[in-house]
Amino acid sequence: MKKSIASAPGKVILFGEHFIVYGGKAILSSINKRITVETQSSNSDKIEVSSDLGAINVSKSEPVQNINPIFRPVIHVAQKILKQFNSNSGLKITIRSEIPAGVGLGSSSACCVAAASSISGLFANYSKEKVLQLAIEAEKTIFENVSGADSTVCTYGGIIEYSRDGKIKKLDFVPKFQLVIADSKIMHSTSQVVSKVKKFKDDNPQVFSTLGDKEASLIEETLLALKKNDLNTVGAKMKQNQAHLEKIGVSNDLLGVMLDAVNDVAYGAKLTGAGDGGCIIALVDDTNLDRTIVALRSKNYECFAAQIDTSGVEQKMEGAS
Ligand code: MEV
Repeated sequence: MKKSIASAPGKVILFGEHFIVYGGKAILSSINKRITVETQSSNSDKIEVSSDLGAINVSKSEPVQNINPIFRPVIHVAQKILKQFNSNSGLKITIRSEIPAGVGLGSSSACCVAAASSISGLFANYSKEKVLQLAIEAEKTIFENVSGADSTVCTYGGIIEYSRDGKIKKLDFVPKFQLVIADSKIMHSTSQVVSKVKKFKDDNPQVFSTLGDKEASLIEETLLALKKNDLNTVGAKMKQNQAHLEKIGVSNDLLGVMLDAVNDVAYGAKLTGAGDGGCIIALVDDTNLDRTIVALRSKNYECFAAQIDTSGVEQKMEGAS
């Protein structure tokens, strides 16, 4: 039986999370941890999904609102593709992930992208643009106001400058840095944190707008510094970005303590993704990578060094047809 196998990388938001939901730009990087989705046709009239987070077996016509949100985007993609290609078969979908879930490293977006590529790949050869469109549509079944930034970097890979109007610019140089990613082990729901920020914005429109303007200038200055590989400046901008995120209420005490632990060793550090838990990222190169890891591990925080992934989503077919 032929199998369509696709994988997509996780991501970190280097700059601009939350503010990107309301316009402007964000800078994101994909990382060398991936999620893999395998899809096969089956003789049943069901869609079966199994993953590290559990399993589900649903009818092809089950309304997606009735489905557990963990599986809803994948089922949406499966139902849409089966319908589009007038297929009478069922589907067997297996998901394997190296990306920890719910901690801001893009596991959900990478899953939508890999699923869109794997499931469509069984029937047609979709372009990356089409895969991305389907992945964002799938994400919207759980989180209507999603900016699309995460799925975009998981699709194309590398470091991208993402605008809320969907404009994407992949950096045409590869900055020479690494990241140390440390996990607070506090899981979050991106949509809940985004709702909390919306409340902050509605209650404090002027403060939010001023912070949004500051974030926009900071991102332009960072892009210039990245071009020169000026890690001292990029690190200082990360600290400023963290201060903006604290002001809108998405950091917490534990993230603050973890950031303090790397303050004297890394070039800069901040939370990444939705916040309210999740991970911090610290900017390093060969000169301070080991010291940054030691600073975190000596305080019992789990962390790892991540490199920039440059490939984005990849799909292949296996087995006889
Ligand atoms: C979540 O990784 C990033 C947020 O900016 C939400 C979004 O961009 O959709 C918090």
